[in-house]
Amino acid sequence: MSRPAASAKSPETPSSTQYVIAQEPYYRPVTNEVELYEAAYSARMPVMLKGPTGCGKSRFVEYMAWKLKRPLITVACNEDMTASDLVGRYLLDATGTKWHDGPLTVAARIGAICYLDEVVEARQDTTVVIHPLTDHRRQLPLDKKGEIVHCHPDFQLVISYNPGYQSLMKDLKQSTKQRFGAIDFDYPEAEVESEIVMHETNVDKATADKLVQIAHRARNLKGHGLDEGISTRLLAYAGQLIARGIEPRAACQMTLVRPITDDPDMRDTLDAAINTYF
Ligand SMILES: Nc1ncnc2c1ncn2[C@@H]1O[C@H](COP(=O)(O)OP(=O)(O)OP(=O)(O)O)[C@@H](O)[C@H]1O
Ligand SMILES: [Mg+2]
Repeated sequence: MSRPAASAKSPETPSSTQYVIAQEPYYRPVTNEVELYEAAYSARMPVMLKGPTGCGKSRFVEYMAWKLKRPLITVACNEDMTASDLVGRYLLDATGTKWHDGPLTVAARIGAICYLDEVVEARQDTTVVIHPLTDHRRQLPLDKKGEIVHCHPDFQLVISYNPGYQSLMKDLKQSTKQRFGAIDFDYPEAEVESEIVMHETNVDKATADKLVQIAHRARNLKGHGLDEGISTRLLAYAGQLIARGIEPRAACQMTLVRPITDDPDMRDTLDAAINTYF
């Protein structure tokens, strides 16, 4: 945290303006997560956002990056991702071999918030590259290049984590987990979720309320035939179709039922729930 910004930059470092979020993203705070995040950021504490799919984690990071006026670099993690995909690699071009910073390195140099989405998807030998970044060293060793990047004072690492999906093989090591402060996310209470659906789709309150109630029914079936309940994201999809004139039952079947289950009995159960509201 002691290094001035300029010393971390190389001539090829991209300008941070391209990662800045210009317009305020709509984010409806649910509890004290904004306050917690601001305090964590001011301490430059790495943060883990935990919660089911489609509950607002990515939207929250975008909002916080905007609020804190920091550039945001998002990396969608997957199991084929290697450490080089994060830190960078030598590539051949017309003039010979040239080093290209990966997204994590760019973020460390320019002082961005680096958001590693679904980090458990990455292999453990990939995740360990974040270790020296997330303790007092705040360094990123580029082994292949023989350089140690000292993080820009504004750099922060954020990861997301869906606790539902992990098998024992695919979990973060404790030595990775214990480098983060964690904020729990979940689908918000009915009134708040309805407000979000209205804002995202322009449907009226009565329709938004019904969509939320259908979601509550489905969420109760999690673990009883459903792996995951209907997310806020899907409720917004349903609202978008309804707002475009699609008949509500058809809109709900397409967005709330078909994506989440192929089981015919479960589809019938959910379709029946929809029919009681629309
Ligand atoms: N608190 C909230 N404020 C505003 N919008 C929200 C909120 N929670 C959820 N949403 C809506 O839900 C959608 C999905 O949210 P988001 O993409 O942030 O989910 P996520 O938690 O990152 O999911 P995933 O784990 O699948 O990436 C958003 O596009 C937005 O419409
Ligand atoms: Mg996300």
